[in-house]
Amino acid sequence: MQNDIIKMCLDWGCIMCGIVAFLSSNKVNTSNLLESLSRLEYRGYDSCGIAYINDDNSIYIRKSVGYVQDLKNDIANNGSRDTLSHVGIGHTRWATNGPVTIENAHPHTSGNICLVHNGIIENYEEIKNNLVEAGMCFYGNTDTEVIAKLIDHNKKIGMSFFNAFKACISKLQGSYSLVVIDSDTPNQMLCYKNVAPLVIGISDDSRSIYAASDILAFPQGIKRCIYAEDQDIIQVVSDGNTVSANFFDRNMKNIERNISQDIESAGEIHKDGFEDYMLKEIHEESGIVKHVYDKIKHKSLAHHRKICFVACGTSYYAAVLSSYYLEKYASVQARCEIASEFRYRSPIMERDCLYVFISQSGETLDTLYALKMVKAHGYNTFALVNNSHSAIAREADSYSNVMAGPEICVASTKAFVAQFASLMALFMPEKLDTNNISKNMDAVLQNNNDIKTLADKIISYKNIVFIGKCYHYAIAMEGALKMKELSYINAQAYCSGEMKHGPIATVDKDLCAIIFAPKDEFFDKTITTAEEITARKGNVVIITNKSNKEIIEQYSNIKSQSSHISYISDGDEMSYPFYEAIYVHLLAYNVAKKMGKNVDKPRNLAKSVTVE
Ligand code: M6R
Repeated sequence: MQNDIIKMCLDWGCIMCGIVAFLSSNKVNTSNLLESLSRLEYRGYDSCGIAYINDDNSIYIRKSVGYVQDLKNDIANNGSRDTLSHVGIGHTRWATNGPVTIENAHPHTSGNICLVHNGIIENYEEIKNNLVEAGMCFYGNTDTEVIAKLIDHNKKIGMSFFNAFKACISKLQGSYSLVVIDSDTPNQMLCYKNVAPLVIGISDDSRSIYAASDILAFPQGIKRCIYAEDQDIIQVVSDGNTVSANFFDRNMKNIERNISQDIESAGEIHKDGFEDYMLKEIHEESGIVKHVYDKIKHKSLAHHRKICFVACGTSYYAAVLSSYYLEKYASVQARCEIASEFRYRSPIMERDCLYVFISQSGETLDTLYALKMVKAHGYNTFALVNNSHSAIAREADSYSNVMAGPEICVASTKAFVAQFASLMALFMPEKLDTNNISKNMDAVLQNNNDIKTLADKIISYKNIVFIGKCYHYAIAMEGALKMKELSYINAQAYCSGEMKHGPIATVDKDLCAIIFAPKDEFFDKTITTAEEITARKGNVVIITNKSNKEIIEQYSNIKSQSSHISYISDGDEMSYPFYEAIYVHLLAYNVAKKMGKNVDKPRNLAKSVTVE
């Protein structure tokens, strides 16, 4: 059975990108599509485009390489943004199939067909060859264009829009969601969902229906939605007054889907006066810790004696960090697994274990597939997410929301501290003094000038290592990841005891080691590692607590050779990770800013990693 599940996961392939679409009996301002795309940019931002049907039934289409803002500028410079239409679609891309070019950007067209697509079509080459033989010409090299051509071809051989769409779906293999419009049939919008997310939003007056990868894309005021299930065909039809969505399975049997009420679409998200979302989100960290801990601590999971955390990236580091405390203070056996590895191994699963899937977005494909695998074997699953409507929240047996609020910056910051605080609340409800922790996290923000000074020194290094022991090591991993993501400097993390087992060979005058060494039970060991680095001419940055100043200054080698000593508030092992987390977030932010990087949208990344 396990092999079947793994095969199923492999077959699902990779999916990314964001789609949005509307069909309305009112005329809608098409600049709304651009605003929706801005909110979907977390799903990819290498190129984007919109299309809508004009009054004369022609299709307007505009695409751009780069950010949604580039497309907005382009449209503003080449005509009005404020055009009205009854039907439109939009897309923001993270390239999987075909390089980043205008031709490969969505929407894709063929004849009167125009569509946006999120996912991959595995058998597109075969279909493309058949279409080429049938005389169709291609302008780009994506699998998506093949879908447009196939529907158009089906129409040309006499099928209606709906039948052409159905016939196309029956030929496509892969994991994808799709929204198609046809200027010959402007009162219809056809959608399909398989693995890649698709949600249908319904306006209160039932005069407009939206389709999108995420409810974030819906305009403000959309309170009702339907989460499409895999293999749903959705026919959205306007009779000129109301617009309805009919759901069918692949055998064209009508199906009923539940309507979720009172959803909160995001509307506008602002930077609140901050220069970037990242800086705003770092500033929210201290408030979130208090809020989430107080709210969640009533939902205890403390009766579970065995936990297996499964997550990726920063969420995985939150698990590693938490596992230290669960074992030490709650006597909970806590194992941590990287989702993309876990699901390809043959993990030994246990009945008395709670499998906890941590994901900010709740959409990470590796984590979702690992969850599906554990569930398919009948084990107990729990999700910790920042989006209650996400696939991971819906798939798990139960879930909790970390309540960090929308995290827009691709690099996760406030969600990391929210995940850690949530896990502490779920397993150790009375352990944190959140008032004090919040206050001292704010003190790190107030010390930003010191962090900026350090950032100035760091930008010239090509080799940065973050070092810590036990819980500090989890923060070291988080710090190294943030440094890599934002500055593109190749930073690594090591536990201090591991340096002598190999990594110390890399130490020379060009290495900068950022070492977490507040005065706790690990201090002496960690300082020994720092000494070993200075002895080999490496540069060290020590992050320690204020009361430790006199002691640290007695280490002459460190003091003389150190590039920097930074001080955080005095604390204990329950509070230091919070101070260190906000510190490394701010440090990576400042380094990247000084290097002139786009901190909110680092190169090659996307916020929601829905690829394998
Ligand atoms: O949404 P998730 O928490 O599942 O995302 C997991 C990782 O992709 C994510 O934490 C990633 O590592 C961040 N960009 C880190 O800043």
